[in-house]
Amino acid sequence: KTIYILNGPNLNLLGHRQPEIYGHDTLADVETACAAVAAERGHAVRLFQSNHEGEIVETIQAARQDAAAIVINPAAYSHSSIAILDALNTFDGPVIEVHISNIHKRESFRHHSYVSLRADGVIAGCGVEGYALAVRRICSLLD
Ligand code: DQA
Repeated sequence: KTIYILNGPNLNLLGHRQPEIYGHDTLADVETACAAVAAERGHAVRLFQSNHEGEIVETIQAARQDAAAIVINPAAYSHSSIAILDALNTFDGPVIEVHISNIHKRESFRHHSYVSLRADGVIAGCGVEGYALAVRRICSLLD
């Protein structure tokens, strides 16, 4: 089965953007690590990144046909986007939300995530390893 790994704004700069918070690994590294975990369980991943809310909504809509599960780091849209929450609510499979940093240890405006109202699980503060942990959990939920 196919697992979508969706990434929101500024995560195209992962590895270069505030490395003291987000680390040095890039999204390509994330994709490699997630693909390895998924392959162990006979699944595949497709990674997407967009800086545009509507594109993320459209990719979630495409997942309704194309994907069995979603791992999503909505980035700053976590804290603002009812549109992304609504899109996820049209998706039937498992959804795990990932934050590289521990959002609860940061500014109070990062403490609330709309996406958490839909997510089956949330991983925060485990660095980029959180993505592979999320894929592992998705595989358990799919099996
Ligand atoms: C983030 C946390 C968000 O608050 C922030 O806007 C991001 C990344 C994380 O992965 O830790 O862009 O989602």
